[in-house]
Amino acid sequence: MTNYDDFLELVKYRRSIRKYRPDPVPDDYIIKILDAARYAMSGGNSQPWEFIVVKDSATRKKLYDAYVEGDFEKMLNIEQMRVIDYRHPGLRIPYEERDKALAMATGWKEAPVIIAVLKDPRKQWGSVLVAHERPDLAVLAATMGHLSMMLQLAAASLGLGSNRVDVSVQAPYRAVLGYPEPLLLDILVPIGYRATEPGPPHRLNLDEQVHHEKYDMSKYMQHKDFLKYIERIRVLGQPGYQV
Ligand SMILES: Cc1cc2nc3c(=O)[nH]c(=O)nc-3n(C[C@H](O)[C@H](O)[C@H](O)COP(=O)(O)O)c2cc1C
Repeated sequence: MTNYDDFLELVKYRRSIRKYRPDPVPDDYIIKILDAARYAMSGGNSQPWEFIVVKDSATRKKLYDAYVEGDFEKMLNIEQMRVIDYRHPGLRIPYEERDKALAMATGWKEAPVIIAVLKDPRKQWGSVLVAHERPDLAVLAATMGHLSMMLQLAAASLGLGSNRVDVSVQAPYRAVLGYPEPLLLDILVPIGYRATEPGPPHRLNLDEQVHHEKYDMSKYMQHKDFLKYIERIRVLGQPGYQV
């Protein structure tokens, strides 16, 4: 058993890394990461994940192109609806500075390994049926979130950086990776040695988030304070996007 201090150190060391050195990562590290990650909890122990380990540089480039043409352009354009100060930290720039936003969103293109994490929606039916009545708790998404965290903690334990690159379109990736219907690509996880150290993680104060015995209304975020909250998390989130 590990102890709390070591655990907390690992938890804080894991960060969303957005710039990588191209140096190769040993194959057995990748297997170790996948081996540890599959112990993630899953609804009904359904284990709906599969992995494609991509090392080939031509394939990685195709994944990058698929991301830029599909997900990045969509994300950048939709985010233009928001006042700049309230935009996602990676997209807080005028549209004309698109290339800067692109560099922030795709620092993973230098990573020597990309793990494409697939999910098989059929397998989530292995979970308890009543869970499927709850759209607020998408079982498959929740399960895949646990897996993502385990992958990243395992990478961090080996001194490696990782991140999750979320995708919303499937066709371009399916064309590159050849996974069949009804499987879906959940996320791309770049793995590699860190080219930058992101500094300490930025989090809100624990005291604001914890209540004892009963909800403490003095900690309730009034509607009028919502924009102040967004400003706070944007400031906290910004350093992670400097590349
Ligand atoms: C559901 C989810 C989706 C995310 N999607 C992305 C993403 O597409 N690209 C990215 O660079 N980071 C993504 N992140 C990482 C968050 O931005 C990051 O966890 C947060 O800013 C805190 O920073 P840290 O992970 O370094 O502690 C995602 C995180 C979660 C939990």
